Amino acid sequence: MCGIVAYIGSKEACPIIIKGLQRLEYRGYDSAGIALQQGKELNIYKTKGKVSNLQDFLEGKNIEGTSGMGHTRWATHGVPNDVNAHPHYSESKDLALIHNGIIENYAILKEEMVKRGHTFVSDTDTEVLIHLIEDIQLNEKIGLEEALLQALSEVTGAYAIVLMCKNNPDIMYAARKGSPLVIGVGENEYFMASDATPIVEYTKNVVYLNDEEIAIVTRNNGFTIKNIQNQLKTPYIQELELKLEMLEKGGYDHFMLKEIHEQPRSIKDSMRGRLNAMEGYIRLGGIKEYDQKLINANRIIIVACGTSWHAGLVAEYLFEDLARIPVEVEYASEFRYRNPVIHETDVVIAISQSGETADTLAAIQLAKQKGATIIGICNVVGSSIPRSSHAGSYTHAGPEIGVASTKAFTAQVTVLSLMAIYIAHKRGTISDSRYHQLITELDCIPDKVKQVIDNTNEQIKNIAQSLKDAPNFLYLGRGYNFPVALEGALKLKEISYIHAEGYPAAEMKHGPIALIDEKMPVVVVATNQSAYEKIISNIQEVAARKGRVIAIVNKADNTIKELAEHVIEIPETEEPFSPLLSVIPLQLLSYYIAVYLGKNVDQPRNLAKSVTVE
Ligand code: F6R
Repeated sequence: MCGIVAYIGSKEACPIIIKGLQRLEYRGYDSAGIALQQGKELNIYKTKGKVSNLQDFLEGKNIEGTSGMGHTRWATHGVPNDVNAHPHYSESKDLALIHNGIIENYAILKEEMVKRGHTFVSDTDTEVLIHLIEDIQLNEKIGLEEALLQALSEVTGAYAIVLMCKNNPDIMYAARKGSPLVIGVGENEYFMASDATPIVEYTKNVVYLNDEEIAIVTRNNGFTIKNIQNQLKTPYIQELELKLEMLEKGGYDHFMLKEIHEQPRSIKDSMRGRLNAMEGYIRLGGIKEYDQKLINANRIIIVACGTSWHAGLVAEYLFEDLARIPVEVEYASEFRYRNPVIHETDVVIAISQSGETADTLAAIQLAKQKGATIIGICNVVGSSIPRSSHAGSYTHAGPEIGVASTKAFTAQVTVLSLMAIYIAHKRGTISDSRYHQLITELDCIPDKVKQVIDNTNEQIKNIAQSLKDAPNFLYLGRGYNFPVALEGALKLKEISYIHAEGYPAAEMKHGPIALIDEKMPVVVVATNQSAYEKIISNIQEVAARKGRVIAIVNKADNTIKELAEHVIEIPETEEPFSPLLSVIPLQLLSYYIAVYLGKNVDQPRNLAKSVTVE
């Protein structure tokens, strides 16, 4: 949450920073601001709203300067307004700071500084940190770098920060703990950002800061990295694989639509080099050294949040059904605080698109301390969760920019399917012939996803038009498709702001059935071959109460046609892979409903893509 971008070099900083903030806007969009070193001045320009509001605000102003930093905010402390927007000045206005994360002990620090005469203008924890740095510097009569190190060792919580000093325009400081920060190393120019997306068009060379490290970045003398104990560190410069076109809409109206359409490719990419159906093998290089841990695991615990948690629920069915390993799927935020029982024979799988979700990261750190093996399934290469895991597999879905997750979910389910089949085969819980059947079918999934998109898009557009004014939706599914029902409901809530709930279809009669009347759309995922008759009974129950049934089926038979207002047909597949197909119509449905309602599909209100606060 919150996006950071900074530049120091010989080019004009402002256009680079603004463009970078636009790329990072998925991280938060309550307010935006920029600090520029302009001659002897360190000037701040900031305003409530999106980066486009900041651009309007800067119109006609002097924005010259070859070093500066910008921020796009997702409010934690204090409402989104001009004053709470970053950057924040120190008491003397000689220093300015941008920050992503939460300083947990800010209230005590603030109280102490107020007693010493500090005046705070905002409600933010960030302003407390920059005051603290200056307070230490002046009181202890030490240099800025030393004061920064000391301040960082006094604060608790999480931060990624960039610090500028009016009197030293050729140096910028960056630091991280718990929130991501990457440094772009160009030719006599440097970039600092929350992720590599603002950097990729200028340089491919990056250094990911580790927790409790600071970078001292100079205009003319390179950069150094230290830990907060003041020990020098050798920077590890990596080459980015990210390509610029991955960050553009490519002719689609929204990133979300582009990402839905990318799924045949992104699913294929997540299997590339791992699945060879012709030769009959699955290879998962990233977990090779730990596969015995998985094969012999007494239990798998999956920790995740949101859509990734739904992928975890699909994995529960996969691992239990195929590999016969007991699985628990936990909300990372609950798991980390309930003193969970964890054994050394447990394998904890953390699923996260961003690889930065604070609760998921904390959950694996806890499990690691207790001796469990940690496997990360993440999309963003070099992010914190893979770096804190023993092993893992990247999902390779490419950057997901729409805030509502689509292609990341299907890539996660694909990698988890590969893992479950691989482990099941090694454990002997599926036969050779079943193994070959499954991998042959998995190999066909990208083509089938394409068929779903091509064959249902227009129909779903029409359905969306007819349902867009409903105030509530119910989503039902059974077995492998129960998590899909949850995911469909989440997608609709997130981007259309329509209340929606997902339920196991049979659970409906234990309460939610009371909601059903002629105004209630009930989306039923009825593709499961094994429970088809039972789902038909559930649909009968909805229809009997005049609910508006939208059924996702493999082949529309007469019964379904009579009961449902809309029937969406998708290709058949092996049941374990049905979520990969059945989720697509639900993504499209929520997308078109949100578009018809005029909502901001890619940046829905109150949300952020990367949730780095707990
Ligand atoms: C939903 C969505 C969120 C994320 C959740 C976890 O569309 O995007 O629910 O799934 O915030 O994020 P990651 O996967 O980055 O850990």
